[in-house]
Amino acid sequence: MGFPKDFLWGGATAANQCEGAYLTDGKGLSTADVMTASAHGVPREITDGVVEGKYYPSHNAVGHYHHFKEDIALFAEMGFKCYRMSIAWSRIFPNGDEEVPNEEGLKHYDEVFDTCFQFGIEPVVTISHFETPLGLLKYGAWENRRVVDFYLSYCETLFNRYKGKVKYWLTFNEINVMSTKPWMAGGVNSDDEQVSMTAAYHQFLASAKAVQMAHEIDSDNKVGMMYNGHTAYPASSDPEDMQRTNDFMHTMLFYSDVQCRGYYPAYKLKEFEREGIILPILDGDLEELKKGKVDFLSFSYYMTHVVGKNTPLVFKGLNGVKTGYKNPYLQMSDWGWGIDPMGLRYLLNLLYDRYQIPLMIVENGLGAVDKVEEDGSIHDSYRIDYLSEHLKEMKKAIEIDGVPVMGYTMWGPIDIIAASTGEMKKRYGFIYVDVDDNGNGTFKRMKKDSFYWYKEVIESNGGNL
Ligand code: BG6
Repeated sequence: MGFPKDFLWGGATAANQCEGAYLTDGKGLSTADVMTASAHGVPREITDGVVEGKYYPSHNAVGHYHHFKEDIALFAEMGFKCYRMSIAWSRIFPNGDEEVPNEEGLKHYDEVFDTCFQFGIEPVVTISHFETPLGLLKYGAWENRRVVDFYLSYCETLFNRYKGKVKYWLTFNEINVMSTKPWMAGGVNSDDEQVSMTAAYHQFLASAKAVQMAHEIDSDNKVGMMYNGHTAYPASSDPEDMQRTNDFMHTMLFYSDVQCRGYYPAYKLKEFEREGIILPILDGDLEELKKGKVDFLSFSYYMTHVVGKNTPLVFKGLNGVKTGYKNPYLQMSDWGWGIDPMGLRYLLNLLYDRYQIPLMIVENGLGAVDKVEEDGSIHDSYRIDYLSEHLKEMKKAIEIDGVPVMGYTMWGPIDIIAASTGEMKKRYGFIYVDVDDNGNGTFKRMKKDSFYWYKEVIESNGGNL
């Protein structure tokens, strides 16, 4: 009983939120590099290129590009078995459409992987995490089918270069964010449903082809999809609230339906028919989707939503996450996210019942304001409580419900900038980084109380939660 012996304990980051060095060693600009930070209720702004005088948190982030050896050594001290990280596409193909990759960028990730191996840490690589090379905007980014080929040439480069080094790949971070934040998901700055469904179609196709390519290049490769773990409860037992909840879940679950089953579900095709949405399907595409089903499903989990008959079907918005009605049974995080550990067990069951493939939790954590004491200690008992309660529910899903969970990577083991707001003060880490919302600080790394707690969790393979 308990966690499997080879359970992948670890942490997860994304290049644009931690690396900084946004133009170093030939890197090009990405969609993340033209997003300002939100402050005092001002939404993040997408600017036309980099505008002087504006603050862009991705440019320096927490300096992981230069500090990665120190950071990975700290992860190793906690006993990480794996490190989920993303490769910045614009380090490898600075504009996205070059024929030849940027050797400096490739070399950097060689060093990152070698550092992981030095500590026996298995990399889990997200190929595209909320950043599309800005150079692909001239094509219309993911709205244009040509981007499928650019992405595949990027994938081919990675699969060949890191063959034998990287075995676990995720094609797109939170692919279903295309319905809520299409700029982040695919460089598409539009609320038009036809545009986001076209872009999502291209990502499905690209992912399906990448899955097949990964298997051809190395039969050891395991490729997963990554789902933003939307989970919703009906506001009441009114059947109308329940129907709305089902409809709400469909807006998200259709993404995992396509990637895990290999075809669009009937409910989505009917909706497209009603709404007049046309998928740009070419001969052979549907076959590709079938052949490119993923090997496993990974997902992020932070909160649950409460949906009623008058709740919108999609919570759109670049800035923050709206969660429908307030759930009176739950505590809220400082950023208004409903903390719901039991919802994690519910979601694990829902996804496994639906697809029967291995699952991996690749993001879960608490964004909170931390206080550094005079002696440099950071007492983040709230974070320990949050994580501990979630891990207990994950354990029940494994032990009681028999859900096969491959691993758990907590988000983000070291403080990084928040994706929704660009803030630094919304901290998730076991490791504190001395940098503030304006990018000022020493960038010094400090261990929080949760650092020692997680070390113990891994050491006991989840025995001590
Ligand atoms: C997920 C993203 O949606 O949520 C991460 O994959 C993000 O990139 C995480 O950081 C937490 O959200 P935020 O806005 O608190 O950083």
